[in-house]
Amino acid sequence: MNRGLFKIWQLLILFDSIQSSMEIKYEFIMEDERIFTACSDEPPQTLDVHGLLDFSENTFDMDESGVTISGNTTIIWDIQPSDRVQLAVSVLYFDRGTWQPTTLNLMYNDFCKLLFDQNQFWYDSFTKHIINSAEIKEKCFRVKGTIIMFETYSVDLIFSIGFPLKNGRYKILYRFTAFDKNVKRPNDICFEIRGDFKKLRN
Ligand SMILES: *[C@@H]1O[C@H](CO)[C@@H](O)[C@H](O)[C@H]1NC(C)=O
Repeated sequence: MNRGLFKIWQLLILFDSIQSSMEIKYEFIMEDERIFTACSDEPPQTLDVHGLLDFSENTFDMDESGVTISGNTTIIWDIQPSDRVQLAVSVLYFDRGTWQPTTLNLMYNDFCKLLFDQNQFWYDSFTKHIINSAEIKEKCFRVKGTIIMFETYSVDLIFSIGFPLKNGRYKILYRFTAFDKNVKRPNDICFEIRGDFKKLRN
């Protein structure tokens, strides 16, 4: 299951630059099987990925052709249906003992409006395979207890970035923040995935 989860989440690294004609194909290789690391130096009310989603009823099957996913994921984040959800994604590079920022940073001020937008990097690997799409389009990640039902689908593990990356260790940091009107809620979701980008031959 952990390996499968990793395969899903590595797809969340597809960036807008995928449209570039200079695109280079990469695979993101996880550093270890824990997949998600909680962010460091966060206030105690910040939750990690297990404060957002419960994957215990998903199945992940791996074979040579890739990973097949099915089942239900339950939203467990405790926010309100009228909240606005912001997502910030940043890629950091490990250089001489410290994590350094890179130019790969994306901010989505209203993530829920874009959840089913076909131009977003998560569409083909995630949203497109949700069976109860009308319900999830409305509720997004905002209604605790909502079940996201996935069709059985095979994930393509290869993705593209529009510019070359240095070799080395990276981490991808995801932060979901909810706002009530414009007041930020304290229970941010923050998690990281660590690994390296492996360039693939065409
Ligand atoms: C997913 O949840 C729905 C609704 O509760 C249920 O009918 C269905 O059997 C579940 N699917 C799986 C694979 O557990």
